[in-house]
Formats: sequence, C-alpha cells, structure tokens
Amino acid sequence: MIHTQSRPAADTQSVHAGEERRKPHGALTTPIVQTSTYTFRDTAEILDFMQYKAEHEKAPREEYGRYGNPTLRAAERKLAALERAEAALLFASGMNAITTALLALLSAGDHIVLVSDSYHRTREFALSFMGRWGIETSLAPIDDLAALEFAIRPNTRLIFAETPTNPYLRVIDLERLAAIARKHGLLTMVDSTFATPINLRPLEYGIDLVTHSASKYLGGHNDLLAGVVLGAEWMLSPIEHARGVMGGISAPNDGYLLLRGLKTLDLRVQRQNENGLRIAQFLADHPGVRRVYYPGLDCHPDHEIAKRQMQGFGGVVSFEIDGDFEKTGRFIDRLQIPYIGPTLGGVESIVQQPAALFSLHASERQAAGLKDNLVRYAAGIESAEDLILDLAQALAGL
Ligand SMILES: Cc1ncc(COP(=O)(O)O)c(C=O)c1O
Repeated sequence: MIHTQSRPAADTQSVHAGEERRKPHGALTTPIVQTSTYTFRDTAEILDFMQYKAEHEKAPREEYGRYGNPTLRAAERKLAALERAEAALLFASGMNAITTALLALLSAGDHIVLVSDSYHRTREFALSFMGRWGIETSLAPIDDLAALEFAIRPNTRLIFAETPTNPYLRVIDLERLAAIARKHGLLTMVDSTFATPINLRPLEYGIDLVTHSASKYLGGHNDLLAGVVLGAEWMLSPIEHARGVMGGISAPNDGYLLLRGLKTLDLRVQRQNENGLRIAQFLADHPGVRRVYYPGLDCHPDHEIAKRQMQGFGGVVSFEIDGDFEKTGRFIDRLQIPYIGPTLGGVESIVQQPAALFSLHASERQAAGLKDNLVRYAAGIESAEDLILDLAQALAGL
C-alpha cells in the first residue's frame, strides 16, 4: 500500500483538488462553461493552434465541445487526484466509459477475459456486441484465479473485472489479478463503482485502468449520469481519441454537478460505510433473514481479501429474506425510508429486489443466478438508527 506523507487526505482533496485557486471573476466555485465550441481570433491563431498540436500531439486550448470542456477538465483532475491516477476521462454514462474504452483498446480477432460476476450490461456488451464484431469473450469466475488464468489464450488482450460485484458483493484479489496479467502481457481494467476511490484504489495494486459509473457514489445525489476511466496518460490517449470520434463526452452542466457532488465524497462514503456495516450486522442477527452478503462481515467468502485491500466496505448490503419472491416484495413495500429503484450510491437509501427488476420469468432469474428472495439495500447518508428501526419494523410485520 502506498502512502505519501505530503499528499493531502481524501477529504481535503474532495474539496480542493483539480480546481483552479483563482477562478474567473474571483468566483469561489468553478464555472459551468456552457458552450459547444470555442472560437479563434483569426486564421493566424488557428494555424498556431494546429502547429502546436502537430508538435506536441495535444491541443494547447479547447477547440470543440466533443473533445473537452474546462468544467469537465476540473472534474477530471479532481477524480484523478482522488484515484491517485495520472489522468481521467469523463463520459456521458458509466456504460459509455466502458464501451468506448473497450472499443478503443480492442480489434477484431482479440479476446478478453471478463469476470462473470459483473454488471449485466457490461456482460451484454462483451458477449452480444463485441462478439458480432469478432472480439471474443470468455467468462471466468471471480473466486477462482486459476480458472481465470486458464481462460487466457494467445490472442487475449485484456482482463476486465469488477469489485465489489453486484449484487453479491464479491471481492477479487487485485494484486494476484495484476500479477497474472503481467505474466501474460495483458491489460487490466477494473470497474470500481461499488468501492469508490475512498475505499479502494486499484491502480495501487498494479491494475492498468479503472472505471466508475459516476452516476452512483461519485455524483452522489442521483441527479446526473456520467462515467470515468482513469489511468496513465499514455494509456488513456487512444481512449480520449475514441471519445472524440464516438462523441460520448459528458455535458458541462453534469460536469459541474459531479464536481459539486465530489466535494462531499469522503464524508458521504464514510457515513455509507458505517451505515452498510451496521445494517449488515443487524440483519446477520435477525431470524427473518436467511443470509447476508457484505464484505465487512466475517462470514463473507471474500472478507479476508476485502480487509486487506479496502479501507471501507461500502454502503451496499445484499440479503436473503426467509421467504419467497412474494414475501420479499412485501418486505420491500413495508420499508418507509428507502426509495425503491435501480441505482445506488446517492444520499438517499435505495432498495430493490434484483429478481423483480431482472425478469418476470423464474427460469430466467435462476439462469442469471438471481435468488428470488434477495434484497439489495444501498444505504444513503441517513442515520443508521433510523434505517435499522425501519428494517426492523418491516421484518416484524411480515
Ligand atoms: C458496477 C456498474 N458499472 C457500470 C454501470 C453503468 O453505469 P451507468 O448507469 O452510469 O451507465 C453500473 C450501473 O448500474 C454499475 O452498477
């Protein structure tokens, strides 16, 4: 684990990193530069701009909104500081970040290994979309790195993993994953959405690229969609080029909301870690709950890896109600504080029955490994006592 004495702590960086100290008009907050393009004084200024680009392989200033924006760049710098990455690139959504990065890095004939316990749209993109374009994917179990290594072929280019995973919160050993990738000369990319840079920084374990759905904890207020890819500048360069071609850059206003949300990232995540752990402990002792999945509990299969690798275990707790599909739905409907919905990471607690949102057909749910009695509870920043009292009353009334 790397600790640099001179680096400000994450709470200080959440507030200050990435932003200019002196902003236009002496404003305290970074302005939203709401423009689609940037103008030039005359042809000579354009020619100077082109000359600089040719010599330095990067632009000296903004040119067009699809390639960059000052508000977004401030958010990118703040994210890079928090993740301890050289640079960051923002996208219109988490899926846009993943798909643009994979398209930039892979070609027809390549093969990737994808950890099977990953966001279902990532799996769909790899298997259905990339498959049609001649890029093959092998799924590997998260808890068997020998099987993952066995899936590597001569044309494998990249290993993609997610940690912790949705909804069973499995945690992969990043140091061992990076070592396998290095041995075979492969790139590694990790979706760290559930962890946030407050709880885990995969680059410190030798992972090449990190991605997040910034729509979750990073934005933190359920009011924006964004995604980010972070890593070394030279590795991001082809992805930045692809973003400019494919056009999935984030909007300036969303960049501002993200920048504002990030100011409280450390505070929010510390509270969500605390809420997640207390809720998990309460549920683990409750007779109406069959099983709890939370990496902070001793009984979680990856607890030892999580303890070693993470600074906190996050705000998401999954658990099985002692009952069937209908009873689980009734439990969720009895909860009074969390909203019912498909996201996580914001200030409001959100609950869902993953099986109900996935498919109306029991056979499809079973095939996807989604138990009918599973509940995913994403704790917000409310008081743990209130959230636990609410859970207790919902369980008592079943
Ligand atoms: C782990 C993970 N990765 C990626 C995504 C995609 O992010 P977005 O919804 O911002 O496209 C999600 C969204 O639910 C997610 O949970």
